[in-house]
Amino acid sequence: MNIAIIGTGYVGLVSGTCFAESGNEVVCVDINRERIEQLKAGKIPIYEPGLEELVRRNVKEGRLRFSTDTAQAVSQSMVSFVAAGTPMGKSGGADLSCVFSAAEEIARAAVGYHVIVIKSTVPVGTNDRIREAISRHANHRIDLCSCPEFLKEGDAIEDFMRPDRVIIGSASEQATAILRELHAPFVRTDNPILIMDPRSAELSKYACNEMLAMRVSFVNDIANLCEVVGAEINDVRRALGSDRRIGSQYLFPGVGYGGSCFPKDVQALIHTARENRLDFALLEAAEKVNARQKRLLIERVKVHFGGDLRGRTFAVWGLAFKPRTDDMREAASIVAIEELLAAGAQVRVHDPEALDNARRIFGDRVSYHTINYETVAGADALLIMTEWNEFRHPNFQRVRAALKNPVIFDGRNLYDPALMKALDFRYYSIGRRPV
Ligand SMILES: NC(=O)c1ccc[n+]([C@@H]2O[C@H](COP(=O)([O-])OP(=O)(O)OC[C@H]3O[C@@H](n4cnc5c(N)ncnc54)[C@H](O)[C@@H]3O)[C@@H](O)[C@H]2O)c1
Repeated sequence: MNIAIIGTGYVGLVSGTCFAESGNEVVCVDINRERIEQLKAGKIPIYEPGLEELVRRNVKEGRLRFSTDTAQAVSQSMVSFVAAGTPMGKSGGADLSCVFSAAEEIARAAVGYHVIVIKSTVPVGTNDRIREAISRHANHRIDLCSCPEFLKEGDAIEDFMRPDRVIIGSASEQATAILRELHAPFVRTDNPILIMDPRSAELSKYACNEMLAMRVSFVNDIANLCEVVGAEINDVRRALGSDRRIGSQYLFPGVGYGGSCFPKDVQALIHTARENRLDFALLEAAEKVNARQKRLLIERVKVHFGGDLRGRTFAVWGLAFKPRTDDMREAASIVAIEELLAAGAQVRVHDPEALDNARRIFGDRVSYHTINYETVAGADALLIMTEWNEFRHPNFQRVRAALKNPVIFDGRNLYDPALMKALDFRYYSIGRRPV
């Protein structure tokens, strides 16, 4: 099948590449010329494990192309996926301007029957609003569907190739049949394709993300409680996770959820609830807990150093909102580093993949290091913000020797408190009993 993907970010590039990998002919379009030029030159603008190799192969075999020309890509396709960003707008609701303009452009460019599939995360009712908007531009019959994406950055290819389920929100049998056929190669192990109306599909995406965000906030609050009552979060977490009704995922305490999805999607659903005069107290609480959790480590830093951080230097390991991605959108590291800078401290940062994105955020206000041990040289303490594998077993002697004070603030519970004590570190983590 010939497919156009409009928006070539984390979702668009992965989706387009995976559709090409299953034999389709795909054109990935973006309004960002630089991004498309990079891709044409064989450079992958984001870090996602396994993506580079897959892009290269599909480009080489002629199934995957990149373009800035939406009209041309659409005119050569029967299905267009919209994977444009839906960032948080000023009111807290999703900013849908990119999705609307992409859909309108597709409708204008279609040269026959066409299926527009909204893959971006959009509030309930958006499909209906888009349908109305494009009816003014379309010269041919257009079916509009919702097919929300559930991939996780860091595991995006595996998630796309083997999704837990595919959701198709469609009111057209013809479009449903086309989307079923397109997704069939990815559900060969009988994971379900769930067909529903577009509104339910739109809400399903938010419901899943919000459930996970609430779990993270819940376990963070349990961890905070552990600290004050003298319990151990790892034991409580295992007890929770081994209950089959609950399961073990998204129950790791830390410095709060970040990324391009949970924060904005939580806000967007709260906004939708408010617009419909519904008080979504549970979600508002999850968001409040998360905002507090993002500041937790710095509060500990301040208490440890007597409140005054002027003239102190801090090493930060991990900037991405989670491991295996370079994405720093809404990362807890941003909150922590901004607070350290505002308190008059100097900051030395390292991340295996996110340094380029960090430069765009912090400019020359922090120093950047490609080797993690370089950050700790002469620093007053080490802060761990992302649980990259390479931070799990560092050379502690080397870290200790380089630090001015042997203090670690671990926002991801990477180390054993007993070992830290034996190595003579002052070690702070989340929800654990001090040794
Ligand atoms: N990132 C994730 O892990 C993830 C997972 C599931 C769903 N989503 C949802 O998918 C959508 C896209 O997310 P993302 O992280 O890939 O965003 P992104 O910001 O990485 O990429 C969006 C791309 O769309 C392009 N774009 C915007 N308007 C366009 C237009 N009119 N024509 C062509 N290109 C256009 C932008 O230039 C950008 O490159 C969002 O709604 C997001 O909530 C994201």
